[in-house]
Amino acid sequence: MKSDTEAASQSGPIYEAKGLKKEFDDGRVAALRGIDLRVNAGDFVSIVGPSGCGKTTFLNMLGSLDFPSSGQLLFKGTHIPDLPDPADYRARDIGFIFQSFHLLPTFTVEENVQIPMIGQGKSRSERKERALFLLEAVGLSHRRDHLPSKLSGGERQRAAIARSLVNDPDVLLADEPTGNLDSKTAVHITELLCQLQAEHRMTMILVTHDLGVARHAARIIRIKDGQIIAENDPADTASTPQA
Ligand SMILES: Nc1ncnc2c1ncn2[C@@H]1O[C@H](COP(=O)(O)OP(=O)(O)OP(=O)(O)O)[C@@H](O)[C@H]1O
Ligand SMILES: [Mg+2]
Repeated sequence: MKSDTEAASQSGPIYEAKGLKKEFDDGRVAALRGIDLRVNAGDFVSIVGPSGCGKTTFLNMLGSLDFPSSGQLLFKGTHIPDLPDPADYRARDIGFIFQSFHLLPTFTVEENVQIPMIGQGKSRSERKERALFLLEAVGLSHRRDHLPSKLSGGERQRAAIARSLVNDPDVLLADEPTGNLDSKTAVHITELLCQLQAEHRMTMILVTHDLGVARHAARIIRIKDGQIIAENDPADTASTPQA
């Protein structure tokens, strides 16, 4: 958890995209066509837009999981492809909730949740305690000894959410974190993420199709065809976009 002094010293953009473009298949697919966006430390931003508009592509580049074709994408002033230790950035600075979970199939739920803590200086008992605390928080402690293949889609998603939070990241990048959950569980998980974001002053960038989820954010960014077409204040219902 950050102190007030730390939080104050982090004011200013934590992420800045300038003319960010991403092409696939030798330029045949233009997934991002010039994204300009500033996100300050502690911001809670939702990203909405139709299927295929580039949301996951953008999040993957914020998470240093893919490279831009052109333009700049800065994390605390450093172009993300030039980060000195991308693995360390992914392990320590950010938590990432993948749209398709990416749980390791031969490890149990509890082991999956513990994996990002390995090599982070925590003892075995600390790792176990932290994993069980988060599995409890997402309502999955009764499934801790199961393999991912034995879980429902929503249970896998909750395991992935617990895993993303184990190292208490400054930044959470969440790709459809409630996409596979029933409405009651989706509300519970959204409230949990909002609570963690507020308490830890976490920067949270949340991709969602669900406007009910998106409206929890202070900013809603709407993407279409690889470009930002609007930014809305969720309190201004007249201008709130349709996902
Ligand atoms: N590895 C890839 N190779 C080729 N094209 C890709 C690749 N990844 C994504 N695309 C294309 O880039 C575009 C953006 O995809 P992306 O996954 O970012 O969309 P999305 O907004 O996350 O959609 P959804 O809401 O369905 O998850 C799509 O046209 C997709 O087909
Ligand atoms: Mg996607």
